[in-house]
Amino acid sequence: MHKKKIVILGTGGTIAGQSADASDHIAYVAAELGIVTLVEGIAGLASAHELLVEQIAQADSKDMSFAIWTLLAERVNYFSSLDDVAGIVITHGTDTLEETAYFLHALLSPAKPVVLTCAMRPASALTPDGPQNLRDAVTVAGTPGARGVVAVCAGVVHRAADVQKRHTYRLDAFSSGDAAPIAYVEDNRLRLLGNWPAAHEIRARAAIENIATLQSVICWPKVEVVMNYAGAGGGVVHALIAAGVQGLVLAGTGNGTAHNELDAALKVAQAGGIRVVRATRCPDGHVLALAGDVFETSKGLSPVKARIALMLALMLPGFG
Ligand code: SIN
Repeated sequence: MHKKKIVILGTGGTIAGQSADASDHIAYVAAELGIVTLVEGIAGLASAHELLVEQIAQADSKDMSFAIWTLLAERVNYFSSLDDVAGIVITHGTDTLEETAYFLHALLSPAKPVVLTCAMRPASALTPDGPQNLRDAVTVAGTPGARGVVAVCAGVVHRAADVQKRHTYRLDAFSSGDAAPIAYVEDNRLRLLGNWPAAHEIRARAAIENIATLQSVICWPKVEVVMNYAGAGGGVVHALIAAGVQGLVLAGTGNGTAHNELDAALKVAQAGGIRVVRATRCPDGHVLALAGDVFETSKGLSPVKARIALMLALMLPGFG
């Protein structure tokens, strides 16, 4: 029987990183090896699956750009529309993986699996984690019934909406927080715990149009995150208003709260037509709406993901 293809898109990250010293896990250079080299380094991968490999970018993900996101969205949309493609894997740096995953999820909600994976150790390490993570991601992408944007790291499969990098060093650096992961990958098999993300047919149909819109947008909306902390004032918000910010996300304390002075400045921003979303700096839990709320809540999204949702809403009328 003709096997369906798995597409592997490379964007850089530590998974493609290298150092002259095999014991170096922090001072290496990210995004050095090409995706073809990474794939060829995994014994048996190419013979077990029909693979299609493409280099999208070669970036340290702290430098992730809207240009890379636009290209990635366009390629994911293209490949997921092909009948002979079972799923897509994206290799990515760990630092902003959750943002790219959420961006693709919010924009495309694909009916096929789109699996981001990464590594905490460079490819040159004595025991790199990238090869197993990439192997696991291909397993997820080739699993019948799998769907939507997910992240795979250290054998755990997380939904794009839930996944967060929670550790600076450990191999198991990601968590789904309050939400359980969807699955574990064990010896090239999936142990499913929950439901795959819903595919939004209407959104998927509109995706090509959305991407065309994104490509024609010269400036993405300027949306910034401001944090509450002891002694926080309104100065940053007033400076951002003066700089022409179009949206603000509050990384508030607790249930999305802000110091009186910061709160007052955010109200000035909103009165001036700037959309303000209330999120929390707590890594777990959702901001709960209160009677008399003046700001919308982040609907369970972390501040960085709420920023993406707000950018898309401002950029694509009718979105979200
Ligand atoms: C990056 O995010 O590109 C570098 C760090 C990592 O992948 O762990």
